[in-house]
Amino acid sequence: MTGSEIRARFLQFFADRGHTMVQSSSLVPHNDPTLLFTNAGMNQFKDCFLGAEKRDYLRACSSQKCVRAGGKHNDLENVGRTARHHTFFEMLGNFSFGDYFKKEAIAYAWDFLTKELGLDTSRLYVSVYTTDDEAADIWHKQEGVPRERIFRFEEDNFWSMGDTGPCGPCSEIFYDNGSEIGCDSPNCTVGCDCDRYMEIWNNVFMQFDRQPNGELIPLPKPAVDTGMGLERITTVMQGVQSNYDTDLLRTIISYIENLAEKTYGDNEEHDVSMRVIADHSRATAFLIADGVLPSNEGRGYVLRRIMRRAMRHARMLGFEAPVLYKTAIFVLESMALAFPDEAKRSSFVAKVVQNEEERFILTLGNGLRILQDEIAKLEQLQQKTIPGETVFKLYDTYGFPFDLTADIVEKDGYILDEAGFETCMEEQRKKARAHWKGSGEEAVAGVYKELIEQGIRSAFSGYQSLEDQSEVLVLLQEGQQVEEAVCGEKVEVICSTTPCYGESGGQVGDTGAISSDEASLRIIETRKPLPNLLVHSCEVLTGAIHHRARVKITVDAARRLQIVRNHTATHLLQAALQKILGEHVKQAGSLVTPERLRFDFTHFSPVSPQELQQIEELVNSEIRRNNTVSTREMASDEAIAAGAMALFGEKYGDLVRVVEVGDFSMELCGGTHAKAAGDIGLFRILSEGGIAAGVRRIEAVTGDTALAQVHEQQQMLSQIGNILKTDQANLEQRLHKLLEHQRQLEKDLEQLQSQVNANLGGDLLSQVQIIEGIKLLAVRIDGCDGKQLRELSDQLRDKLQSGVLVLTGNFEESVPLLVAVTKDLTDRVSAGNLIKPLAALVGGRGGGRPDLAQAGGKDAGQIDNLLAAAPMRLKDILQG
Ligand code: SER
Repeated sequence: MTGSEIRARFLQFFADRGHTMVQSSSLVPHNDPTLLFTNAGMNQFKDCFLGAEKRDYLRACSSQKCVRAGGKHNDLENVGRTARHHTFFEMLGNFSFGDYFKKEAIAYAWDFLTKELGLDTSRLYVSVYTTDDEAADIWHKQEGVPRERIFRFEEDNFWSMGDTGPCGPCSEIFYDNGSEIGCDSPNCTVGCDCDRYMEIWNNVFMQFDRQPNGELIPLPKPAVDTGMGLERITTVMQGVQSNYDTDLLRTIISYIENLAEKTYGDNEEHDVSMRVIADHSRATAFLIADGVLPSNEGRGYVLRRIMRRAMRHARMLGFEAPVLYKTAIFVLESMALAFPDEAKRSSFVAKVVQNEEERFILTLGNGLRILQDEIAKLEQLQQKTIPGETVFKLYDTYGFPFDLTADIVEKDGYILDEAGFETCMEEQRKKARAHWKGSGEEAVAGVYKELIEQGIRSAFSGYQSLEDQSEVLVLLQEGQQVEEAVCGEKVEVICSTTPCYGESGGQVGDTGAISSDEASLRIIETRKPLPNLLVHSCEVLTGAIHHRARVKITVDAARRLQIVRNHTATHLLQAALQKILGEHVKQAGSLVTPERLRFDFTHFSPVSPQELQQIEELVNSEIRRNNTVSTREMASDEAIAAGAMALFGEKYGDLVRVVEVGDFSMELCGGTHAKAAGDIGLFRILSEGGIAAGVRRIEAVTGDTALAQVHEQQQMLSQIGNILKTDQANLEQRLHKLLEHQRQLEKDLEQLQSQVNANLGGDLLSQVQIIEGIKLLAVRIDGCDGKQLRELSDQLRDKLQSGVLVLTGNFEESVPLLVAVTKDLTDRVSAGNLIKPLAALVGGRGGGRPDLAQAGGKDAGQIDNLLAAAPMRLKDILQG
């Protein structure tokens, strides 16, 4: 039975028993910043267990892609060296949300293993939580598992998702791989660390919600969460010892064998490398397909560590060129049946991987040399610890993650000075913090936090209207609350409600005016330092503004109109990019100002002029369709399921605001928008370019700014037409003609110059001097560049027949200098030697062959001195 068949059989088994088959969720957990990567099937159901979310089913099953990379049991270094460690794996699971509980869960698990898969019961063992007599009885009485095969553990039989959240006692099922496997100790039994008794399935009886203080609060309804590693159960079914020998991973290893022209099983070190690449290719392919990009922080850094480790092992297998992108494509294509969406992104994934590998190959060699030098030093000192500074330097300069360095030196028995490394890291962080402190941001942010703690809130009323009546809650000057601010002063004003949008989500804040009976203020900008806190930075124009004053707040409407056009256009642009360039396009940043919009997105090659034109046309055709822009509140999961574009890893509240432009675009967004697409009027792209590996930026304008830009270009064209004395239709032709004409002129000029030089040659010969019996011609010729001096020197040399030439003069801002020596004299004078002291006189340096040397100087004032010095310098050389 292949791994795929087992996956399908599992899902079908539970579907036949009333479970809804649910798609694997993304490896990037939505709505849960506490979790780095999805690491269990239950993650996507967390809120169902807590009772905070209702779905229209009470039973579910899934095969969930998971990544575990780091932490006590998931050291990267182990992966590839053992039979079972992985970064990426699939977890088969069945779930009950307050429907069935222990009895049914145990029956399903036992039936699936023994009846559906036909496992030999004499090889199966189970464990329950120390005090869970109920589960032990069910195993024994209901399923007939002998008491001596039921073990009890405390820590291992209590499962929790993290420090807080759903948790409960669990019951595990073990498969005995046989006495020939494992540690052979007489005490070896279930729970031993060796490979003999392998845990295959964990059934968690979810009963509690663990609080931050450790308290266990009972869940509204007890639930079931189970997880069986697909790779492990496949190992059992295929009768192999290692997960890497199942078809799930062995096919990838075969693919690597072919590329590397090496045989798996021939050499232990190569085998490790093949396993590392097989496992890491899966994590790499799926993480990138889910939108994670290699970077220096957070999820991106974990991905980078995984990728770089695989890349190093690829070099150890003898690959010089990038190869990981090929294995990543292979992974996605061979898993396309179970993961069709990910497979569709394989060309994007390949580009990201290839790009990262090309960059890493450049620094890998240098880093390895540093490490070898260090090891040579340590060998002499007979020490085995790589100093923290070296590890840090490798990290900081050569992009070697800590665990990559550890992995490289491990086989030679070296360890890393982790504490020393941490000290260097802390040092660097301190520097960064010191930098940050200087900006004063930290202190200011504290004030706003205090206000929120005091219960100060400001509501935003500016989606519908641009004017509102309100009350001044707080006046701030230099981070301190004040009672009043008077004419000429700057002050921050916080009101109970305001129509002014505070800068957030890339949209700049509004400007406008505040007025009371006693004062008028200009709003310079509006910010939103914390949710529910809108701060107007103002200047008091007349009178005095007081704490608690009743005020009228007015938004600068013309400016807001420009902003909303650009914001709605940004949504259209994002949708158009996805339609024209592909689904992999994800927002990486955006800025919406009155003047223009800027949108950063993931994409791996420059956008071609044709694509840009298509994008611009698509956006403009949506503008002409003039669909209404509608906004509504929805449950965030529902919005994402309906296809609303959201930012990866962003924490959204339960209720989100969804902005739709007809059927063309649907995005989660809190910003302000045009009423209909047609309000945008016109959309024009100004520029496109790369800003980081895999991230592009488009800048564009809309409305009257776009029209003004069209006019500007039009005007420029007609001015050029005037200058060239032609109308626009003939501009191109006229320019071609002019350029052709110019080329002809240059040719003519060159010919004339040669003729002039030839004639000049004759005249110059009269200036020959004789130094120590040798003819020297040292002359000034202004207006010739180096190339022309060379042509002239050829003719003069012919005429001189035997002698030395020194030619120099003023050319534009420079002083070209040439020394030539006829062949018969080069054993007495070398042009290269003579030019050095002469060039120095005009502030230049030069050199060349014995018969010809050239230099360029700057100091035209010294040309005559140079010529006067030439006979002396020649004499020096001749006299040795
Ligand atoms: N959530 C449990 C685990 O990860 C069961 O799936 O082991």
